[in-house]
Amino acid sequence: MQVLIKRDDLLHPSDDLCFCGNKWRKLKYNLIQAKAAGYQQLLTFGGAYSNHIAALASAGKLFGFSTVGIIRGEEHLPLNPTLQHAHEQGMHIHYMSRSEFRRKQEAEVLRQLEERFGPAYVLPEGGTNASALQGVEELVAELRAQTVIDERACVAVSCGTGGTMAGIILGMAGQGQVMGFPALKGDFMAGEVEQLLAGEGTKWDNWTIQADYHFGGYAKHKPELVKFMVDFSQQYGVKLDPIYTSKLFYGVFDLIEKGAFEVGTKVIVVHTGGLQGIRGWEERFGTGGSPL
Ligand SMILES: Cc1ncc(COP(=O)(O)O)c(C=O)c1O
Repeated sequence: MQVLIKRDDLLHPSDDLCFCGNKWRKLKYNLIQAKAAGYQQLLTFGGAYSNHIAALASAGKLFGFSTVGIIRGEEHLPLNPTLQHAHEQGMHIHYMSRSEFRRKQEAEVLRQLEERFGPAYVLPEGGTNASALQGVEELVAELRAQTVIDERACVAVSCGTGGTMAGIILGMAGQGQVMGFPALKGDFMAGEVEQLLAGEGTKWDNWTIQADYHFGGYAKHKPELVKFMVDFSQQYGVKLDPIYTSKLFYGVFDLIEKGAFEVGTKVIVVHTGGLQGIRGWEERFGTGGSPL
């Protein structure tokens, strides 16, 4: 069998590593649409360490939009590295109570935000929508152009909202397999992906969710995950992030060891970036064993 890495972590339009990987894929058509519709401002939602918040702030600065980030919970000063970055890109940071944040899709909450900040192209938390899926499909088109997609291909990807995985499933159009590795605990991911696919009017079944590699839940870790991340970086010269891609690669390697892949399978692991999260992670858990 072969293991290939799709290095989307190297996909960034500037030196700014916050706008790379699946963020570039997911934002591309959203930014095009926002420009075409005449919006000058982008507004989105996220947690205080969100890769999506960091990416949208960078994207806004790069392409001339002002940005508003609605952050779950209270303000903590000094700003953590993610929010400091967002602030430096000019993002207006607004904190929302956890209870209101849960209602952020409701028309009344959105109306109040518009009243306060003015008209804005609104992206959901994590940036997952139909335009995001369209951008991710291009990742598969590149793999096809590199002739690595055939019936033996198995594309492995990390899941948060499931949008990146859904875009890959659409791009694969029934060929090969897709495996999703949730970074969060819980059994909701398959339902999320199904719903995203249904929204595109399609229902492929060549995909599975590998739910055993969340290491306790979102942003949780265990010593063996940190060791894996550090060893991986030293052995292959590829840095992983502690929240998403380290869990993904750990899971793929574990499944290989367990003989879960058929002989001849071509495993294509998508490195979705997320390296900006390392600094915030170090801030919370210390630099011992850090991949940086
Ligand atoms: C680096 C990285 N990889 C993977 C994911 C998961 O993407 P999705 O939310 O589309 O499932 C995210 C964000 O959510 C991410 O930041």
